[in-house]
Amino acid sequence: MDPEATLEEARQRIEACDDAAALKDVLRDYVGKKGAISAMLAEIPKLDPADRKAHGQKANALKQSIQALAEDRQAALDARELDAARRADDFDPTLPPPVAERGSLHPITQVTRELEDLFVSMGYEVLDGPEVELDHYNFEALNITKDHPARDSQDTFYCDEIGTLVLRTHTSPVQIRAMEGRTPPFRVIAPGRVFRQETTDASHDHTFYQMEGLVVGKDISVAHLIGAMKTLLRGIFGRDLDVRLRPGHFPFVEPGFELDARCPFCSDGCSVCKKTTWIELLPCGLVHPNVLRAGGVDPEEWSGFAFGLGLSRLVMLRHNIDDVRHLLDGDVRFLEQF
Ligand code: DAH
Repeated sequence: MDPEATLEEARQRIEACDDAAALKDVLRDYVGKKGAISAMLAEIPKLDPADRKAHGQKANALKQSIQALAEDRQAALDARELDAARRADDFDPTLPPPVAERGSLHPITQVTRELEDLFVSMGYEVLDGPEVELDHYNFEALNITKDHPARDSQDTFYCDEIGTLVLRTHTSPVQIRAMEGRTPPFRVIAPGRVFRQETTDASHDHTFYQMEGLVVGKDISVAHLIGAMKTLLRGIFGRDLDVRLRPGHFPFVEPGFELDARCPFCSDGCSVCKKTTWIELLPCGLVHPNVLRAGGVDPEEWSGFAFGLGLSRLVMLRHNIDDVRHLLDGDVRFLEQF
């Protein structure tokens, strides 16, 4: 048998195959038990010993060539089949792919990011602080001594028996951490989560969000504070709103204020401002000398203002949400609206 003629014959037969079954039949004629290759190998014992090795090698080479041709043909048949399926009526390659559902940012995250951008544009640094905080930072250094009544009003979650570790009840401890790590002048904000051991209702939750602000510099006054708060209001509500200060007491500021803004939703009284045309925006004040000292800042040389914005409250105001607990209960029907 002439291996080259056999290979050529096999090539023609393989190319003519139109499906896998036909290909299998052709292959059997060559590489099957009773096929041409087996016949070639069977001749070996009859050959002159010197020719046997070369004959065996030819048979093997022929077998490999035929198998390779068959594999190529099978690949071509597979591709043709796939192509045919694509062309079939039930496949329309021009249809758009299914759209994956996308989530959205939580309204608290949205407002936090907007305010961060706003304050960064005014030269503030954005800081983070620990949620499990030392009593020292949460109270002591903020001029809230052990027997101070403000400790009761801040229903604290204590983390240990001896009361040195607490879940921070406000973002104000970041004020002290900020002063410790910097030399004035500086401006910082610190948004974050705070905790209070409270019975929950529509306007109280055990976990909520605040944003602390602290500016320390030369001759910082209430005028600077008002200026910053007016810019804040413009950022939140998109326009200028009048503000007023009422006295407020917090141990870490002196003087301390409650800052109100003109109601952004009405001019003559509505349900949001409870018919007063003013809304409570935030508590603030000039940093108490004791607090500056606790942060390593000399109150003879420097002064500062601080404010504590309730982010959860702000989000409720903005979206007209009537129950603070919606913000954290993870109900998708609520979250999908943002
Ligand atoms: N830390 C206070 C609280 O959560 C809020 C506050 C009041 C923060 C006055 C301030 C401030 O920075 O100056 O009740």
